[in-house]
Parts: sequence; structure tokens; C-alpha cells
Amino acid sequence: MRLARPIGILVALGLTASVATVAHATFGQQKSLYQRLGGKPAITAVVDDFIGNVAADGRINARFANTNIPRLKAMLVDQICAATGGPCKYTGRSMLDAHRGMNITDAEFNALVADLVKSLNTFKVPAEEQKELLTALGGMKGDIVGH
Ligand code: HEM
Repeated sequence: MRLARPIGILVALGLTASVATVAHATFGQQKSLYQRLGGKPAITAVVDDFIGNVAADGRINARFANTNIPRLKAMLVDQICAATGGPCKYTGRSMLDAHRGMNITDAEFNALVADLVKSLNTFKVPAEEQKELLTALGGMKGDIVGH
């Protein structure tokens, strides 16, 4: 009986701690990838740098010879912003429509991703955020390659 109260208090404290942990995990607002990347200014800076890399990349730059680059940049920023949980709306063509008739290869897709990773590293985007972004873009590959 003499121990009952301290044990009761310890149990109560333990319970409070686990409820607090569960509540934190359940209700705590996880930041969106968009927020963790640094929002639209950071995404715009990465896309600008990335397009610079693509323009200098002899493996794929000929593909963009007739492309409206300012539009492409704006579309990419909106697309990445929307795909990562940001407040933007992507108003461009579907990936299938935008790349139809180009017969883009795996190697070209990988080259473009490498150019993006270079920029993500330049801007010191952490590995976890890089992985999440590349997973989101990787999901579009089937609509971009081989059509
Ligand atoms: C994850 C990979 C890619 C994403 C997210 C992506 C995204 C986009 C977006 C948003 C547009 C603009 C669509 C519009 O203007 O309505 C676009 C256009 C374009 N993309 Fe991609 N793209 C990817 C891969 C590639 C690759 C690998 C190539 C070629 C090497 C490529 C070549 C082009 C070209 C040439 C255009 C302009 C088409 C035109 O002006 O008619 N894209 N892409």
C-alpha cells in the first residue's frame, strides 16, 4: 500500500507521456515537402539552375532547341510546387501530351534527372527531400519515356 501511490504516479506519468507521443504523431502537423524544400522561391531557384544544366547538357539540349524556355520554367515550378503539396495549380499539358512524339529514351530521362540532382546538390537540398522529390517525378516517367 505504501508503494501504491508512487507507482500510481509513475504509471500516470508514463501514460501521459505515451498519450502525448501518440497525440504528437497523430495530430502534429508534418511539414509538406513543398515547405521543407523552402517554398516557391527555393523551387524557382532550383528550376532556374536546372534549366541551365539542361541547356549545357549535350546529351539532351538539342531536344529543347524549339522550346519556349520561360514557359517551360514557369510550368516546371508550378508542377513541382503542386506535386509537393504547395498552393500552386499546374496549368500545363499532361506529361503524355507534352512529350508525345518525342520518343524520349531512358538514357535521356536519366540525364535530365542527373541535371536536376546537380542543382539539388548545389542548393544543398537534404537527401530525404531529394528522395521524395525524385520519387514524385519518377512516377511521371511512364508518361514521358517512349511515346
Ligand atoms: C521528370 C521528368 C520531366 C518532367 C517533370 C517534365 C516536365 C515538363 C513540363 C512541365 C513541360 C511543359 C508542358 C507544357 O508546356 O504544357 C515539359 C515540356 C517539355 N519537355 Fe519535359 N519533363 C520531363 C522530362 C523530359 C525529358 C527527359 C525530356 C527530353 C530529354 C523532356 C523534353 C521536353 C520538351 C522538349 C518540352 C517542350 C515541349 C514543347 O514545347 O512542345 N522532358 N516537360
